[in-house]
Amino acid sequence: MNNIEQSNKPSIVVLASGNGSNFQVLAEKSLSGELIANVRALIVDRACGAIERAKKLGIEVIILSKPWYEDFEKVINDLKPDLVVLAGFMRIIPEHIVAKYFPRIVNIHPSLLPAFPGKDAIKQAYDYGVKVTGITIHFVDAGVDTGPIIFQKAIEIEESWDLETLESKIHELEHENYWRVINNLLQKPHKIEGRKVKWGV
Ligand code: GRF
Repeated sequence: MNNIEQSNKPSIVVLASGNGSNFQVLAEKSLSGELIANVRALIVDRACGAIERAKKLGIEVIILSKPWYEDFEKVINDLKPDLVVLAGFMRIIPEHIVAKYFPRIVNIHPSLLPAFPGKDAIKQAYDYGVKVTGITIHFVDAGVDTGPIIFQKAIEIEESWDLETLESKIHELEHENYWRVINNLLQKPHKIEGRKVKWGV
């Protein structure tokens, strides 16, 4: 692919604070052309596993310094991504930034929201004993995991599963679906009415 084609593609940035498996899938899907966007950069707020993954894939890493949200705003203003993709970014985006960029920041959460928001959602669901859990991809608003829901996928928890099994099933679901949802957001018309995300209108 030549540079002109490259530059015509939409671009995304991915924010992570941890392991970075979702980031890696997005980057690989971008490189294979299945994700229609360029992953312009990995943005992190701390030393974390995602950095090494980005280096191996040749993707620029931007480390936010304190206060992280000032840096974040500057980076977004400079790079002007079509979508800001949170993938295990362990910070709450301040209200003034959400107001400025809504609805261009999306997040993935490992439960069926509004059940089990916040940290350790897979363990929360597992310990609660729910029979069905899943993943949620949503627009980011000023709350914790409260924004309008774009996509959900459920999974039934089998009695024989331990927490580790459930974690790996949830991550598989995330890896299968996040890039597809991002493709949809970037190419299919949609609108947000109140809490509802509507497609094809
Ligand atoms: C994922 O489970 C995601 O839903 C949550 O944080 C986790 C990040 O995992 N927001 P990884 O760093 O992408 O492996």
